[in-house]
Amino acid sequence: MIRTAALLMIVVCCADSDDYCYNEPHCDPYSWGDTFPSCHPLLEHHHSPINLDHHMTRNDSLGPLHLEGFDVIQSGHWTLKNDGHSVVLQVGSGMEVSGGGLTDLYHTIQLHFHWGGPASNGSEHTVDTRRYPMEMHIVNMKSIHPNMSAALEDPTGLAVLGFFIDVVYAENVHFGHISQRLSSVAYKGQTTKIKPFPLMSLLPKHNMSQYYRYYGSLTTPPCSQVVVWTVYEVPIYISWSQLAQFTSQIFSTEEDAEQVTPLQNNFRHIHPTFSRIVSASKDAKILKGAAGQPFRSAAPGLLLSILLLGSFIFYL
Ligand SMILES: *[C@@H]1O[C@H](CO)[C@@H](O)[C@H](O)[C@H]1NC(C)=O
Ligand SMILES: *[C@@H]1O[C@H](CO)[C@@H](O)[C@H](O)[C@H]1NC(C)=O
Ligand SMILES: *[C@@H]1O[C@H](CO)[C@@H](O)[C@H](O)[C@H]1NC(C)=O
Ligand SMILES: *[C@@H]1O[C@H](CO)[C@@H](O)[C@H](O)[C@H]1NC(C)=O
Ligand SMILES: [Zn+2]
Repeated sequence: MIRTAALLMIVVCCADSDDYCYNEPHCDPYSWGDTFPSCHPLLEHHHSPINLDHHMTRNDSLGPLHLEGFDVIQSGHWTLKNDGHSVVLQVGSGMEVSGGGLTDLYHTIQLHFHWGGPASNGSEHTVDTRRYPMEMHIVNMKSIHPNMSAALEDPTGLAVLGFFIDVVYAENVHFGHISQRLSSVAYKGQTTKIKPFPLMSLLPKHNMSQYYRYYGSLTTPPCSQVVVWTVYEVPIYISWSQLAQFTSQIFSTEEDAEQVTPLQNNFRHIHPTFSRIVSASKDAKILKGAAGQPFRSAAPGLLLSILLLGSFIFYL
């Protein structure tokens, strides 16, 4: 009986030895390390995602990144794909990321999303422990590398731009380029062609100079510690129905599977920063928690000086 259950587990969860999952028992991000040793969160290892809080250092030399080709319509076509773990938009060549403290030029390869469920949020990074409804990752590979396997050997081989996605009552027409096409990639393995659009139209119009920077890892196996992370402070806003298209209309299983499973909560758990420095760009507001911090710690000192001054005047 037990053996049958165990066998069933293997079949259900990790039929593919190089596959991974999010929500099945014994096959969630906490156990990725069993199959992918580099996903083990050992002491002093630099994994992602992290919680962003006031333990942050301002770095005035971190200005806005240069997003080359993001404001034009690229030629050819792009491909939207459900890979069973996320919805991935594979973009052609023609877009490059540099500046903002990146020491190299990076080619944009793809973007993809992480989300929660109908009643739970699913961003990977958190801000003062708050989880946003979604997170978008734009993945860029250092241009000196001929392929991804070479980039995964370089401690700064990838630069990922992370954007929180929050929900409002208004439709985001630009986001519609992706959300309106989701029904074509509802099941694992499905792909659809997308007409290129300016990637910049997805991003926040203002406040692109406000971001956080740290060195971390891929948030999916093999969890390689090769990512220069840029997490933007100001979110992208989409509507409730656009969010629902991700949380309830995408499946982690193939169309002909005996049991279809919605793809939900496809985010990795938070990891400790250990000795890492998390930097805030020159224009970042830093966090509300941080803004309150100096005041809170200054208050008792201020009170003490008033008391001292008071007693000084008294003795005079
Ligand atoms: C600030 O950022 C620049 C550019 O990335 C970097 O060279 C420098 O080491 C950083 N300074 C600190 C104190 O982290
Ligand atoms: C989830 O997201 C909503 C909308 O942004 C927010 O109001 C709520 O506080 C978030 N919940 C958690 C637990 O972070
Ligand atoms: C990737 O690039 C490296 C370095 O040039 C090369 O040695 C390797 O064979 C390439 N791998 C693949 C799968 O193309
Ligand atoms: C966005 O930038 C504008 C102009 O610099 C600033 O006034 C505003 O407070 C920023 N918004 C946020 C949410 O930080
Ligand atoms: Zn991601």
